[in-house]
Amino acid sequence: MRRVVCPGSFDPVTNGHLDIITRAADLYDEVVVAVARNPSKTSLFTAAERVELLREVTKKYDNVRVDSFEGLTVDFCKANGISAIVKGLRAVSDFDYEMQMAQMNYSQSGVETLFMTTNPLYAFLSSSLVKDFAKYGGDVSGLVPGPVLTALTSRLAES
Ligand code: PNS
Repeated sequence: MRRVVCPGSFDPVTNGHLDIITRAADLYDEVVVAVARNPSKTSLFTAAERVELLREVTKKYDNVRVDSFEGLTVDFCKANGISAIVKGLRAVSDFDYEMQMAQMNYSQSGVETLFMTTNPLYAFLSSSLVKDFAKYGGDVSGLVPGPVLTALTSRLAES
């Protein structure tokens, strides 16, 4: 079975993430979306909430599975029989860091990284920008899936 992992913070998942996940699902037998649990990083949504939102927005894709992990992505890959990581590249600014991570991961584990160019519609999009824009009353309805918009609106109203 050709299985890849799509790792990230997904705080929260955006239409840009979803575009990469679904395009990867067209190419591979199984895509495992892996939510990084990083206790030292502040997030708007807990890892469990991020997993839940991802499950909701990917439920129509039979070959997409959502999980979470703590530690190294390559260790998650080894534990799950995954030989490649799929990452979206939005712009040249993503390239340096992503390239370094890919080379580090390959050199230390043999796990490959495959880059997919982001749909130009979402080239500017990031979870951080979405959160910031929404926090100050901006309309992000075209940038995140419906269930994420609902969760985001209610989470921001709490603070
Ligand atoms: O959505 P993000 O925050 O850009 O995702 C980054 C993520 C979680 C994919 C990356 O930081 C990662 O792989 N973290 C796990 C720890 C790890 O493997 N670090 C070594 C990289 S060489």
